[in-house]
Amino acid sequence: MKIGIVGTGYVGLVTGTCFAEMGYDVTCVDIDEKKVAILKAGQSTIFEPGLDHLVARNVKEGRLHFTTDLSEAAKNCVVLFLALPTPPGEDGSADLSYVEGVAAELGPIWSGNDAVEYRVVVNKSTVPVGTAVRIRELLEQGGVKAGIDFDVVSNPEFLREGSAVDDFMKPERVVIGTSSERAAEIMETLYEPFVVQGNPVVIMDESSSEMTKYASNAFLATKISFMNEVANLCERLGANVDQVRHGMGLDSRIGNLFLYPGIGFGGSCFPKDVLALQNTARASDYDFKILNAVLEVNDIQRSLLAGRIVDHFGGSLAGKKIAIWGLAFKAQTDDVRESPAHSVINGLLAAGAEVHAFDPEAMETSKHVFGDSIFYGADKYEILRDADALAICTEWREFRRPDFDHIKTLLKSPVIFDGRNLYRPDKMKEFGWEYSSIGRPVK
Ligand SMILES: NC(=O)c1ccc[n+]([C@@H]2O[C@H](COP(=O)([O-])OP(=O)(O)OC[C@H]3O[C@@H](n4cnc5c(N)ncnc54)[C@H](O)[C@@H]3O)[C@@H](O)[C@H]2O)c1
Repeated sequence: MKIGIVGTGYVGLVTGTCFAEMGYDVTCVDIDEKKVAILKAGQSTIFEPGLDHLVARNVKEGRLHFTTDLSEAAKNCVVLFLALPTPPGEDGSADLSYVEGVAAELGPIWSGNDAVEYRVVVNKSTVPVGTAVRIRELLEQGGVKAGIDFDVVSNPEFLREGSAVDDFMKPERVVIGTSSERAAEIMETLYEPFVVQGNPVVIMDESSSEMTKYASNAFLATKISFMNEVANLCERLGANVDQVRHGMGLDSRIGNLFLYPGIGFGGSCFPKDVLALQNTARASDYDFKILNAVLEVNDIQRSLLAGRIVDHFGGSLAGKKIAIWGLAFKAQTDDVRESPAHSVINGLLAAGAEVHAFDPEAMETSKHVFGDSIFYGADKYEILRDADALAICTEWREFRRPDFDHIKTLLKSPVIFDGRNLYRPDKMKEFGWEYSSIGRPVK
């Protein structure tokens, strides 16, 4: 079966590569010529564990193709995925211009081409309820007939950056939103190789499918904000959030995942998706109160670490050098979109600090944001020399067990602000560190 993928970012590239790995013939299209040139050479354009190797193999073996020409990807495919950006518009609602723009281009490409009798257009972007209907209208306006020439399916993506390949290869569930039996059958066949262990392919209507994605992300964001508030209260009461989390997580109704407090959620999905759902609710005259609180708590949490550092140094960081470990919004990715680490850096710069940062994968992506306004170090120890404090912003494995004795010889004084709770407060105190973390007071 021939598959087309429009947009080769985090979702499109992983989707296309994983389908090719299963043996499908995949053509990915992107408007970014530089990206396409790199991909055509068999190299990945993002850091995602396991992806480089799969891209290289599938390009070499001729199952994975890249182009900048939409018609080349769309013409002969049976299934066409849209994996396009849906960033927040000015009012917080999802900006559908990328998705709608491509949908408007498809009609003319397909109305003059009879090589393929029937196609499924699959929307993988995270989009508000009603978008499948809107895509169908745009295709019809372009001259193709819904239900005869094509159907539009909602197929939200649940992969996590940092384990995207694994998540795509072995999804916990595949959600397919369609009211067309013909399209549902094609989609089920398409995903068969990914669910051989019996994980469910859930078929539902388009609107419910679109809503499932937003509700899932908003719920996860709610868990994070909830635990951040629990942590903040623990600090005031002398309780330890690690122990509280453990005690809570053993209750099967709660579960032990996603209960880690920190410096707020970020990334390209949670902030924008919570905003978009809040906006959808508002447009339906519904005040989704929890979402307002989730975002408010997150804003506060994202400014917490910088605020603590500024307070520690008496209200100003002029003349202070602060070292930062971690720039990515989470470990195992180079993605810095809405990274909480960047919020910390902005707070430090605003207070007059000189910032020296290190991240194993996200230095290049951060350079696009900060340019020369911060310094980038070649390794995690180099940036500590003569720094007044170290702040930890991303939970990379290589930060978990550093050489503390060596760090002490480099820093001006032994001060660590840990936004990811990587070390034990009692041990840090015992070894003479001034150590501040989230929700774990030092007794
Ligand atoms: N990143 C994630 O972890 C994740 C997970 C699940 C769902 N999503 C959703 O998937 C969608 C895509 O997210 P992403 O992170 O892959 O975005 P991305 O920004 O990484 O990639 C989007 C790609 O689309 C390309 N593009 C833009 N306009 C185009 C056009 N007209 N034709 C062809 N290509 C075009 C861009 O150049 C870019 O390469 C979003 O709606 C997002 O919310 C993302």
